Amino acid sequence: MQNSKLEKIISLSKRRGFVFPGSEIYGGLAGTWDWGPLGFLVKENIKREWLKHMLRADHIFPIDSAILMNSKVWEASGHIEHFSDPLVDCKKCKRRFRTDDLGSLTSKGKSDFLKTCPECGGELTEAREFKMMFKTHAGPVEDSSTEVYLRPETAQGIFINFKNILDIFRPTLPFGICQIGKAFRNEITPKSFIFRSREFEQMELEYFGHPEKMDAYFADIKAMRMQWFLDLGVKKENIRFRDYAADELAHYSNATTDIEYRFGLSADGFSELEGIANRGDFDLQNHTKASGTDLRLEGVVPHVIEPSLGLDRAFLAFLTDAYDEDELSGDSRVVLRLHPKLAPVKVAVFPLVSNKENIVAKAKEIYQSLRQSAISKIYYQRSIAFDDIGNIGKRYRRQDEIGTPWCVTVDYQTLEDGTVTVRDRDTGKQERRQNADLDKYFERMLI
Ligand code: GAP
Repeated sequence: MQNSKLEKIISLSKRRGFVFPGSEIYGGLAGTWDWGPLGFLVKENIKREWLKHMLRADHIFPIDSAILMNSKVWEASGHIEHFSDPLVDCKKCKRRFRTDDLGSLTSKGKSDFLKTCPECGGELTEAREFKMMFKTHAGPVEDSSTEVYLRPETAQGIFINFKNILDIFRPTLPFGICQIGKAFRNEITPKSFIFRSREFEQMELEYFGHPEKMDAYFADIKAMRMQWFLDLGVKKENIRFRDYAADELAHYSNATTDIEYRFGLSADGFSELEGIANRGDFDLQNHTKASGTDLRLEGVVPHVIEPSLGLDRAFLAFLTDAYDEDELSGDSRVVLRLHPKLAPVKVAVFPLVSNKENIVAKAKEIYQSLRQSAISKIYYQRSIAFDDIGNIGKRYRRQDEIGTPWCVTVDYQTLEDGTVTVRDRDTGKQERRQNADLDKYFERMLI
C-alpha cells in the first residue's frame, strides 16, 4: 500500500466522521483514537455480526467482565512476568523501538535486529524488556498493595468467570464463553493508525473442550473464523492463515495460527488480524493453583481454543478492503464497497430536486417510513439518511464515500405511479421499484 492508501483511509476517516485522533484539541495523545458517529456505527455492526456468529450455538455464553481485576489474576496468568516487549533506545536521538520493528519480525529476544538507529544512524542500546500493562491504584491509598492493572486482554475475565458459568448454566464439554471489551497496552510504538494503539477493543472466545478433542476444534474454529471474514466481503486474495513456528509461540500457547490481512504495512503486505491459539490447560491450571478453586469439569481441567480479534484492526481490514477509487459516468469517485451489513448508513433518501415542495415532501415521507421499518429497528434509525443539499451527483458521491449501499431518489414519476429509483453503490445502476415494497426489499438484502 499502500501507505498512500492508508493515508487516504485516515483522511477519509477524519473528514467523514469515522475516526478522530484522540485528545486532538490538546495536541493529541499517541496511540489513542476517538470514534465518530459513522465509525461508531461500523463498529457496532462488526460487533453485532461477530456476536451473531458466536451465539448461533446455544453452548456459547456471552459475558462482560470488569476491566479492573485483582492483580492476582495477572500473576496467575503470567502477564506480570511475561507481558513485555523487547525495547531498544537510540543513544543519540533517544528514540525508542521495538526490536521486532527493527528487522526481526518473529524472533523476540533474538539479537538479529539492526544495530543502528533507523532514524539517525546512532548507536542502539542492548534490548531490555518493557512491561506493557498500564498500572493504576484502586482506592485512595497509592502504594503497592492497591496496584491494579488495566486489562491487556479480555480473555482473563473469561477464565475467572469459568466457575460461575459452570455452576449456574451447567454446560457440558465442549462449550464456550465469549466477550467484547476494551483492552489496554502501553505499546512502545503505537503506529499505523488504529492497527496498533494503546487502547483498543477485543472480541474473544474461549472454547473449552476435552483435551483429546482439541485438534479437531482448532481446525473447525480456524475454518469458521476465516469464513466469517469472507462472508463479510473480505477478498480471498487479501486474507490468509499463518501458522506460528515453535519459537514464536506466546508463553501460554502450544499452537497458534494467525489470520493475516494484506494491510500493506509489512514487507510482504500481510500482518496479523486475528490470533487463534490452542492454549491447552495453561490458564485454568494456573487459576486453579493460584485461587484454590476447583476448575475441573467431567473429571478434567478443560483445554481451550481461543480466537482473539481486535475490533479496531478488523475495522481497518474491512475499510482497507472496501476502499476503492473508480470512474462512474465519466466522473472519478471514492467508494467504500463495504458489505451492506457493515455499512454505517444503509439507505439514503433524496428528492431529485430540492425546490419542488411536493417532491421534497414525498421524499421526507419515504425517509420517515424507512425509519420505522424493520432494518431501522435492527441497525438504528441513524442508518437511514436524508439529503437534499447540492445536486444529485454530489449527493451520490457523498454516500459512495461512506459506503451507503443504496440511494433512493424521489422524482416526478414517483408522484404519478408511486415508484422510486434505487441506485446501487457498486455499479451505479438504477432501477425503479414500488415505494410500497422498499422496506421488504431492503430487509431481504440485510437481514
Ligand atoms: N488473548 C490473546 C491475545 O490478546 P494477542 O495476539 O495479543 O492475543 C489479539 O491479541 C488481537 O488483538 C490481535 O490479533 C489484534 O487484532 C488485537 N490487538 C492486539 N494488540 C493490539 C493493539 N495494540 N492495537 C490494536 N489491536 C491489537
